Parts: sequence; C-alpha cells; structure tokens
Amino acid sequence: MKTDKDITILGIETTCDETSAAILKSGRDLVSNVVHTQIDIHKKYCGVVPELASRAHAVKVAEVVKEALGNHKIDLVAFASGPGLPGGLMVGRVAAEAVSALKNVPIIGVNHLEGHLFACEFDAKEGKIAADKQLKFPLIALIVSGGHTELWYVKNYGDYKMLGRTRDDAAGEAFDKVAKLLGLGYPGGPVVAKEALKGNPEAIKFPRPMMKGTFEFSFSGIKTAVSYYLRDHKDIKKEDVCASFQAAMVETLVAKTFQAVKKYKVKNVAVGGGVAANELLKESMVKRGQKEGVDVSFVPRALSSDNGAMIALAGYKKFMFAGKFNANIRINPNMRIKNWGK
Ligand code: KG4
Ligand code: ZN
Repeated sequence: MKTDKDITILGIETTCDETSAAILKSGRDLVSNVVHTQIDIHKKYCGVVPELASRAHAVKVAEVVKEALGNHKIDLVAFASGPGLPGGLMVGRVAAEAVSALKNVPIIGVNHLEGHLFACEFDAKEGKIAADKQLKFPLIALIVSGGHTELWYVKNYGDYKMLGRTRDDAAGEAFDKVAKLLGLGYPGGPVVAKEALKGNPEAIKFPRPMMKGTFEFSFSGIKTAVSYYLRDHKDIKKEDVCASFQAAMVETLVAKTFQAVKKYKVKNVAVGGGVAANELLKESMVKRGQKEGVDVSFVPRALSSDNGAMIALAGYKKFMFAGKFNANIRINPNMRIKNWGK
C-alpha cells in the first residue's frame, strides 16, 4: 500500500520572474521540472518589472503546469505562497487551487526561501536529479537570491531562528545593479562572474560591510562604491571592477556565515538561492569549511535559481514533518520564515 512517504507532489513556483512547475515522487525523485524564464521580458529594464511579471505568469502558468503534470497522478499540490511579488503569488495560488479542485487533492502553501534551502538536498547524477543528499542539522543557512539575503540557524526541518537579513540590497540585486552600471546586461550575476574571471580581484579595494555585532547585511554601500569608482576614473578595466566587486561580496558573505557558525557552534552550512551559482562563493565557502571542519552544502547549479522542484520538496518536507497538515494558502508577499510547530 502506498504510504504518506510515497506521495507524488506537484510544485508550482511564480514568486518572481520564473514560471515553473515540477513533479516530485516520494520526496526524492524529480520526474519533471519545467521552467519558463521571463528574462527576455525584463532584461531591457535590467531588473524585474512586477506588472510585466504578473502578466507573463498568467499567460504561461497553465501551459507550464500541464507540461510538468503529463499523465502523472498526484496526491498533493504545493505552491510558493510568499515571499514574492503579489501578482505572481496570486497567479500561483489560483493555478494551484484549480489543479487541487480538478484532481481532488489537498493544497499546501510553502515559503519560497525554505524551498531554496531544501534544494540543497538535490543531487544531479548521470543526468538524473534526486533529493538524496539529506541536510545535516543543526546548520547555518545562507539564502542569497535576487530579492533576499538571509542567515538562519536551523535546528531541524521547520525549526528556525532568523539571525539576520539585508538592510537594503539583496546580494543578487547588488550583482544586477553593478552589471547595469557597467552595461553588461541582465541578470547581472552570471555576466559579472564571467567578466571577473579575466580580472584582478585585488585591483580595487571595495568595502567589506561587516555590520559588526549583528548578523545583518548591507550591500548598497559596495554598489555605491562601484558607482563612485566609475564616476571618478577614466579607462577603467571592467574585468578588474567585476573581480574586485565579486571578491568584496564573497568575502563578506563567507565571513558573516562563519561568524554565525562560530557563535552557534554548528558543523554544517547550507547555501541556496540564485547567487549560490557563483563559483567563487562556492569555492571560498568550501575552503573555509575544510579549514574549520565544517561541512558545506550547496544547491546544485541547475536548481539554484527559482524552480518548481524546490517548492515540491518544501511541500513534501512540510507534509511529512509539520506534524499536522497545514492547509493555510494565504499569500504573503513579505512572508518570514516561521516554525512549523507554531
Ligand atoms: O533565486 P533567484 O533565481 O531569484 C530570486 O528569488 O530572486 O536569484 C536570482 C539572482 C539574480 O540577482 C542573479 O543575478 C543572481 O541570482 N545570480 C548570480 C549568479 N547567477 C545568478 N549572482 C552571482 N553569481 C552568479 N553566478
Ligand atoms: Zn528565489
């Protein structure tokens, strides 16, 4: 007989600029993961335009869900109910409710950022992706994306303490803004990282905003330092600006994460979100982890940016570990992580 453990979940993601849906079996096997990105719509603005994003989600969501679903029989629908752009969240909720009503299965709302964390459990082997790299608790989680930069102490699934967030720009947003200043295009992270490969990370000394005594972040100062540098210098080398900016970002993220590791005496770190695709960040975190005897887990590159797979997995974890079925599907653009027991 099929047990709860073996349920099949449809995950729907529409919080920002990717319309995505995925099917996850038994909390492990990723059967499908369809991602439709809106990059082409937003790139001329060098950032996500909320109204255009909502419209594009509304246009694409049915097609994406249909393709991910195929002929699979599902037991549960999970969707990202926040944080995110209100229009996109509404589209995700309506799509999830429609599938839930049609298939006569329950629906669960999950936190998009928890999805980014749990995505660290996925592993890509021989062309197949499965969630078989269980997180080890307690851990410090660093979630770095285009909209968020947060540091959490995580005791177990659904048991969190928020340590700090960014006071201004998110890490990915800083990459996007610097790319815009340099005329490199959108999204900024991948192009800045590529340009940085050719440059000298020590050419320019940009600030490392440590926000002493807190676990908060502030990245607008680095971005402003880059804009002043560009204003005050002629004949700049874009590759040196990128390499030096990236070094400042990475050094700050690693230092703050390991301050938290020290304070909370943990042996595990997990890094998720779009910026986790950054090779220098990964290398630096892993190196520091090896030095300090800390295991560092990164989301696989293929699932670092927004996707339905991580939402399906978050739905599975919540279904299995929350103790009671939480059917709250209210959307909340400013959603904070919350303990499942409360
Ligand atoms: O998680 P995500 O797909 O969307 C949000 O939830 O925001 O993250 C997108 C962000 C963008 O700001 C993008 O520039 C950044 O992730 N990003 C990177 C890299 N690849 C994507 N940042 C730094 N280095 C990268 N290689
Ligand atoms: Zn995200």
